[in-house]
Amino acid sequence: MSTSDPTLDPALDPAVEAHLEATREARLASYLDLLRIPSISTLAEHAGDMRRAAEWIAAELTRIGFDHAEVSATPWHPIVYADWLHAAGAPTVLVYCHYDVQPVDPIELWETAPFEPFVRDGRVIGRGAADDKGQLHMHLRAAEALLATRGRLPLNLRIVFEGEEESTSVSMPGWLDANRGRLGADVVVISDTGFFEGNIPALTESLRGILYTQIDVSGPPADLHSGTYGGNVENPANALARIISELKDRDGVIRVPGFYDDVIPVDPAARARLAALPFDEAAYLERIGVPALAGEHGYTVLEREGARPTLDVNGIWGGFEGEGSKTIIPALAHAKVSMRLVARQDPLTLFEQFRDFVLRGAPPGVRVEVTRLGAGRPSATPVDQPVVRAATRALRATFGQEPVFKRNGGSIPVAEMFERQLGLPVVLLGFTNPDDNAHSPNESMVLANYEIGIRTICLLWDILGREGID
Ligand code: BES
Ligand code: MN
Ligand code: MN
Repeated sequence: MSTSDPTLDPALDPAVEAHLEATREARLASYLDLLRIPSISTLAEHAGDMRRAAEWIAAELTRIGFDHAEVSATPWHPIVYADWLHAAGAPTVLVYCHYDVQPVDPIELWETAPFEPFVRDGRVIGRGAADDKGQLHMHLRAAEALLATRGRLPLNLRIVFEGEEESTSVSMPGWLDANRGRLGADVVVISDTGFFEGNIPALTESLRGILYTQIDVSGPPADLHSGTYGGNVENPANALARIISELKDRDGVIRVPGFYDDVIPVDPAARARLAALPFDEAAYLERIGVPALAGEHGYTVLEREGARPTLDVNGIWGGFEGEGSKTIIPALAHAKVSMRLVARQDPLTLFEQFRDFVLRGAPPGVRVEVTRLGAGRPSATPVDQPVVRAATRALRATFGQEPVFKRNGGSIPVAEMFERQLGLPVVLLGFTNPDDNAHSPNESMVLANYEIGIRTICLLWDILGREGID
């Protein structure tokens, strides 16, 4: 079969390669310019920067040759839309990336300022370098290379660049509904994932969903002297600790009733695909920097990451956090608790079950509130479909290595929205290196992944334009 013989893989158009080679420096400068805009979606003080980033991208899309480039309003951060629809008879691909980034704290752990990106040892370092402005920029430059070389694209593209992905895409469902008329496509390509351990080119076959909650426990209206009142008053911090300890048992099994009802066991074929991956557990441990791994019994590391749900405390605070000691019974204690979901788990149903379980476990003498902060459904991409096969060929031809399929532990709620709301198949084609420090200090993108990945995208558009999608 031609698809499994690398010698028969198509090669990138030499004219496009020549254009990309000649524009390498300007491309890097433009990439860094985009990273300098502090587009943190979750922080209100950056709302102006969000708009500035959206306008920067829309202006680029227009300059490159897209039509209808627009900074489209939503109740919160704008979505950038553009299209190029002049390839009659060729497929239409909707490209999704996000231009918002995570906050930068703890700032003291960054080697240099997060929004003053720089290049070192073949990496671009800065917030958003990988997740996801780097990949968004790759799509801009890939389309530019094709349009600059030929004056046209080999297929039709619609661009949707979102500004709320890191904040659970709250405006997206409404925007997709309202813009249904201009979102027709054969497939959605999302570039917001990455390569496998060892930086092996990869396609993502599934994403986990997410349910994000906050638990607030309150006791006395103000902190009390722990000598005078200790022993008679329920302590909110103790109560919270007890509630949290009830959520999961020592074998890593989540104790919320009903939690596993919609978890479907990974099918044997998917399990075999995971087992066949060149996974080096020692190297993984070393990279993360923990003394040992911990997780649900009876599953491999890759199964736990991609096919099993989790429950984690993301933050916990309350009472005295200063230097030295202060003897109080705190008035308040709080925790952020999130769950990663798989298969058919529905975050809205689970929230009810989770809240009921927490409230039932609350001791008398404190008030407990449980709030839902975010929700996103899991999603999966069938591996045997034309665009996935074409992407595999494009990756193999450009990176010179056989790509693998991975199940991603992270979440991109919009993937499921494209499928359910618009009925569009989704392919997850991302290029970041596994050690990209996404969401952490010193986020980085391997420049070779960025550069070669631009070629992968150009080649993929050519393959799809030539061969169609079905
Ligand atoms: N790009 C990530 C998703 C991802 C995570 C891809 C890990 C590959 C590996 C995305 O920007 C992200 O961070 N999503 C959030 C969820 C969102 C609802 C806040 C996540 O997974 O925590
Ligand atoms: Mn992302
Ligand atoms: Mn992210």
